[in-house]
Amino acid sequence: MGERFPARFVWGAATASYQIEGAVADDGRTPSCWDVFTRKPGAIRNGDTGDIACDAYHRLDEDLDLMAELGLQSYRFSVAWSRVIPEGTGPINPDGIRYYKRLVDGLIERGIQPTVTLFHWDLPQVLQDRGGWASRECAYWFADYAAMIAEALGDRVARWITLNEPAIVADRGYRDGTHAPGLKDPAQASAATHHLLLGHGLATNRLRSLLGPSISIGITLDPLYAVPLRPEDAELAAEIAAGKTDLYLQPLLKATYPTLRREELVPTPNVVNRGDLDAIAEPIDFLGVNFYDPVFVTRREDALGRGETPLAGYSDAVIVHPDGYPVTSMDWIIDPDSFHDFLVELHQRAPSLPLYITENGRACYDYVDPNGEVHDPERIAYLRGHLGALRRAIDDGVDVRGYFVWSLLDNFEWTEGYSQRFGLVFVDYGTQRRILKDSARFYAEVIASNALPPLKEG
Ligand code: GCO
Repeated sequence: MGERFPARFVWGAATASYQIEGAVADDGRTPSCWDVFTRKPGAIRNGDTGDIACDAYHRLDEDLDLMAELGLQSYRFSVAWSRVIPEGTGPINPDGIRYYKRLVDGLIERGIQPTVTLFHWDLPQVLQDRGGWASRECAYWFADYAAMIAEALGDRVARWITLNEPAIVADRGYRDGTHAPGLKDPAQASAATHHLLLGHGLATNRLRSLLGPSISIGITLDPLYAVPLRPEDAELAAEIAAGKTDLYLQPLLKATYPTLRREELVPTPNVVNRGDLDAIAEPIDFLGVNFYDPVFVTRREDALGRGETPLAGYSDAVIVHPDGYPVTSMDWIIDPDSFHDFLVELHQRAPSLPLYITENGRACYDYVDPNGEVHDPERIAYLRGHLGALRRAIDDGVDVRGYFVWSLLDNFEWTEGYSQRFGLVFVDYGTQRRILKDSARFYAEVIASNALPPLKEG
């Protein structure tokens, strides 16, 4: 059976607080930068907000039972900072933290390991008003918040993830302004890069000293798999990959920032204090990686109308769609082989760090058919292809310890609002009814057998 996964491989699914919880004013929660940003005219498709989302805050038991039905071994969720510390700093809000305690208890009762992301983008607006991640203080606010969550949830958490995709926060939040807080300020963006990384390092140190050496802690990055459209784009692709990947990986692994051709991406000496880089390189136990698609790049003037998407920080380059690749409803290229090659490369970069795939999945135009069912063969094919590629990477020596599908539920897809469905479970936003898609049953089979089930005939 070539398709079996290693013993103790962890199978999970992921979500994030602002994308699913709703209940934005319940039990003392204050607005996050995303509550504010979604109010900005034109920022989000259809003017959608996370006000209600999947109403997961009120549907805890139902969702926990769904996870148990799928046989999930771990659930990756994030904590909404402004729910648990409404003023951003200072005392914990007992009503807010109660939700996460119940969630952790409910998971453990069902034999599901909690994987906690401390920051998945929803910074308390009160802290945004004080400069957010562009301010050095934010690293310290984050470390204090992390320590409070560690004290509250403690050793019942199987693994901790400090930050989700800091590159996206800096590039889209502070550089091109397409995410909260919507700033377009290169100096603030590179400062945010540094303060996010510093916050990660300080929090990692605090958590380990509070909870002991045996905890498992890491960070989730979205290293870009940049592919040159033509051979002559090779240098450009390497440069873009460096700005997205090396800029984060190198300080974490080697306590230095890389030298980049685009100097403006690199934190400037006036924000990097003595000792910061050592703090950032605090040892971690694993690297979380999110992978969805390879990104083909070329020079803007050579794109020739192949569906160009801008790249934050690179006014002279664009993402394009070469012919011959299928795409998802997000217009993202589907290519499992890239996933394999991406993992092999990443492992060469960080050979001693175990990897967890903390997000992988696709959006589809899912709908409920007249029989009340949701058939999503495209998602099953995507998962099968990517799990096969992952399996091959493991055979090739890449140390991957677990895999989390993005996402458990259809949810608020940031600037795309509710127009993009990534879930294993369909959410009818009118009634909040949950319906298991075919892919959920497929994934349950994968988990139960710890293997890719054979292709069914017909
Ligand atoms: C991410 C985002 C997720 C997205 C998912 C699909 O970490 O990239 O955290 O929240 O919903 O990636 O775009």
